[in-house]
Amino acid sequence: MAVLEILAYPDPRLTQESQPVTEFDSALRAFVADLEETMRAGPGAVGIAAPQVGRVQRIVIIDCSGKKNLVSDHGRMVLINPEITEWEGYAVGREGCLSVPDFTGNVIRAERIMLEACNEYGEPLQFKFEGYEARAVQHEIDHLDGLLFLDRLVSRRNDLFKRKPYK
Ligand code: NI
Repeated sequence: MAVLEILAYPDPRLTQESQPVTEFDSALRAFVADLEETMRAGPGAVGIAAPQVGRVQRIVIIDCSGKKNLVSDHGRMVLINPEITEWEGYAVGREGCLSVPDFTGNVIRAERIMLEACNEYGEPLQFKFEGYEARAVQHEIDHLDGLLFLDRLVSRRNDLFKRKPYK
């Protein structure tokens, strides 16, 4: 396994649209292991998407289980070719991103979503996410469509915050 280099804004590769995964083989699972190790190396990271390491495929890893007071908590998930099928409610919340290390920002997201995805073995899965976990999933799926939270700030002037460097 290896910790991969994370692309940072304004790297133009972060704006590419990612392609669906078609081969669920050992090479995919080796990449997923590297992607997960990269996420775990990031301070406080609850998710990562393949394009953040320069691989433009629809692969996301989420693990919010280290956060307190979660409404829904599915633990560690590999979500491949994820599709949101239902949205409900909306809320403003603060987001950060491994690719935007110096800032956080306020973004509007759906409060509850239904999601269909495959795991790294190609098995189809269905999820219902709420609250913080739903936010994390929506944030990561945005990466697959070439979007960062910077593209969704409620207001560029009032909702972007310089963050203290992690020690
Ligand atoms: Ni991100």
